Formats: sequence, C-alpha cells, structure tokens
Amino acid sequence: MSANGWHPGLRESATFDRNAIAEIQRAAREGIYDIRGWGAKRRVPHFDDLLFLGASVSRYPLEGYRERCDTDVVLGDRHASRPLRLDIPITIAGMSFGALSAPAKEALGRGATAMGTATTTGDGGMTEEERGHSETLVYQLLPSRYGMNPDDLRRCDAIEIVVGQGAKPGGGGMLMGQKISDRVAEMRDLPKGIDQRSACRHPDWTGPDDLEIKIGELREITDWEKPIFVKIGATRTYYDVALAVKAGADVIVLDGMQGGTAATQEVFIEHVGIPILAAIPLAVEALQELDMHRRVQLVVSGGIRTGADVAKALALGADAVSIGVAALIALGDNAPALDPEYAAIGSAAGYYDDWQAGRDPAGISTQDDALAARLDPVLGGRRLANYLRTLTLETQTLARACGKSHVHNLEPEDLVALTVEAAAMARVPLAGTSWVPGVTSS
Ligand SMILES: Cc1cc2nc3c(=O)[nH]c(=O)nc-3n(C[C@H](O)[C@H](O)[C@H](O)COP(=O)(O)O)c2cc1C
Repeated sequence: MSANGWHPGLRESATFDRNAIAEIQRAAREGIYDIRGWGAKRRVPHFDDLLFLGASVSRYPLEGYRERCDTDVVLGDRHASRPLRLDIPITIAGMSFGALSAPAKEALGRGATAMGTATTTGDGGMTEEERGHSETLVYQLLPSRYGMNPDDLRRCDAIEIVVGQGAKPGGGGMLMGQKISDRVAEMRDLPKGIDQRSACRHPDWTGPDDLEIKIGELREITDWEKPIFVKIGATRTYYDVALAVKAGADVIVLDGMQGGTAATQEVFIEHVGIPILAAIPLAVEALQELDMHRRVQLVVSGGIRTGADVAKALALGADAVSIGVAALIALGDNAPALDPEYAAIGSAAGYYDDWQAGRDPAGISTQDDALAARLDPVLGGRRLANYLRTLTLETQTLARACGKSHVHNLEPEDLVALTVEAAAMARVPLAGTSWVPGVTSS
C-alpha cells in the first residue's frame, strides 16, 4: 500500500466504498443504527454550485472603501409591535443547552451580541448564562416542550415554533444519557443519565389549523409584542411555507437537509429532506404568491460557511441566514490543536461528529463539568464575533461587486449556476447560457 492509501491493482467499489463497508461492519457489530451530530456529509447541490456575475460594462460596481453597503435587517414586523432589528443578516441557530455546554451557550450569546445579532435557545429551555449574555434572544417552543417555561416566553425577544429541522424533518430530538446531568435533568423534568428521545410532533396539534391557534395563544401571552417565527425542515417547502404564513407566522425559518444536529440517526441526516439550494426558491415562490415576500421574512440555514454562502442565500430571496455547525467551529470545535485528544476517542480534528457522546475535548458538546470548563466563553465569544464579522465583510464585498448598496438588493439575476442540477434547483441560468432548466426552453 502506498502512503496515500492507494492499493495498486486493487479496485475500490463505487457502490460499496470504504464508508459503506465500515457502516455494514459497524451495524453487524452493534446491531443498532448510528447516531451522530453535525449535518449531512455527502455532497449535494449547494451554494458552491453558484457564481456571482460581478459588475462590468453593463453593470456598475460600488467602491469598497467609500461607498456604503448596508447589512441591517428587521425580522418580524408583520404583526409584532417589537420586531427584531439586527445589524447583520446572520443569526445563531437554535442549539439546545444539553446538546451544548453552558459556557458554549454563553459564548454564542456573547459573540452574537458583539455583532448586533440574535441567538436562539433550543430543546431544553433557556439558561441564565444565555439570557444574560444575549442582547437579542429567540426562545424556541419545541414538540418536546422540554424546559418550556411561560415566564421565559415573556423574557425572550422572539418566539420560534419548531415544527422541524433540516437534519431530521419528521423526526424528534435525541439526548443520550451521558449528557443528562443534574442540571439538564432538572430543566427538562427528566431522570438523570437516561437516554431521552423527544417528540417528533407537537402534542396539541393534529394539523395546520392548530398552528394558527398556537400562534394566537403565544401572541396573547406576549401582548402582541414578540415576533413569532416558525421553523421548518425543508421537504414540501412550497406548501409548508404557504400554510405557516396563513397560520400567521411573522418569520419563516427554513432549514435545509445539510443542516446541523446534535444527535440524529445517520440514515436520517443523509436521506431525508431537500438541499437548501432547492428549498429557497420554493419558499420565495410561496411567499410571492401570497404577496408576503419581504413582509414575512425568510431566514435560511443548512451548511452556511462563508460570506459567499450568505450572499447567495440572500440573492435567492432570503432575508437572513442562520448558522449552527459553523458557529461551533468558530468557538473552537474540531480545532487542530486538539487532534491528539480527538484521536484518543477514536476521531480526528476536522472529523469529530460524536456530539451525542458528551466527550468533546473542546468543551462544547458536553455536560461534563471538567470538559466544559475548558471553553472560555469570553474567548469563544470573541472568536465567534470575528467569524461573524468576516462573513459580513465577505457578503458586503460580493454585494458591492454586483453594484448593491444593501445586501438585500442582491437578486437571482446576479447569479449563474455551474451545473444543470444547481440551475434547475436554484432557478438561475446555467453559466454562459440563458437556460434555466424547467423554466426556459433554451
Ligand atoms: C449542536 C446542535 C444542536 C442543535 N439543537 C437544535 C435545537 O435544539 N432546536 C432546533 O430547532 N435545532 C437545533 N439544531 C439545528 C440548528 O438550529 C440549525 O437548524 C442547523 O444547525 C443549521 O445548519 P448548519 O449547522 O449547517 O448551520 C441544532 C444543531 C446543532 C449543530
């Protein structure tokens, strides 16, 4: 065998590749599906398959150092008297205390606040660290109702009703017993140390009409002050968005299949839902048909890594994006310096996805006090703020190159696709042609 793992004369099967073989062997050994964190790992059409058409003779670019390119966004001004006013169109996605350590939640709040944006609670409720360090905090109402506290509905700045997540539309949450510490157990009203599987649907709903009733209740409880977000995993997006808007949502949060998770079956992560690239145009179409595009804001997530991803999502019609996995990496997850410690638990820096296991040497996806103490929330918050600043600067750079004085002025017309698949899903022309598969004939 050579150093790069190539075996001369031996041929690897494309169908039964090394991952498929390893998974069959693992399943034969353990007799249960694999559970892991992170998001889908296989390649699906994504923002990398799109390119911007920068300005040239036919369009006029803006000067980076002299001409403004604004980034502010208002979320939830359809019905709420106190919509969120954010400085940047990038928010921190809902990630539960339980999945994440208390210092990690605090660091997310610090980083988001430093950049004038929002962070979000998660399954399991609101922690004091998080509330205390988040200027703008979105409170999730989930099917499990774990940690749900009516007082916290009044202490938050917006409410997000979670119908589903991109990593597992139709599935419920999981928190393995090793992460159910005394504090997590108390907040969730669960026994310590026992695996918890949370509900895949809300206990008091049997259909979309019940969503309307729930939104009405939440508005009454909070005096019509707080915006109500509805979060959905991307599947039948056109209909789901239309129904959520009809039910009264102020903001739609749309999470594509690449979206992160703390703990889900691998088969679910990789095989359920549609890529965010395909979902955004469906959501925009539904909003436009209801004359609600930009009146009900669209926040999208699922594999956002760079300012290019942010700019492309906005150009396709989103009002803001949300990040999960990238925020954890910014805090220090999978840091190269921890490689020996990842190796000691059978992983490697850049690959570690056993976030369900609670053994994270970075102190992020753990409830072990000694491990959690390794994450300095002040430093983590600073790193996250730096990352958010970079994403924002990159987004502005691309918007200015397209001649836009606000990042929201980016539009599908600024984009082309590198592949036929991406062109069809994103509904933009294949590069060098005017062909939008399924829309134009050539
Ligand atoms: C560690 C972790 C915990 C999460 N917990 C929740 C949760 O409690 N509620 C929820 O709606 N989504 C949860 N999510 C999903 C995120 O809110 C978001 O939809 C997803 O991470 C976005 O995709 P990205 O990670 O590729 O940015 C979680 C994601 C991660 C990585």
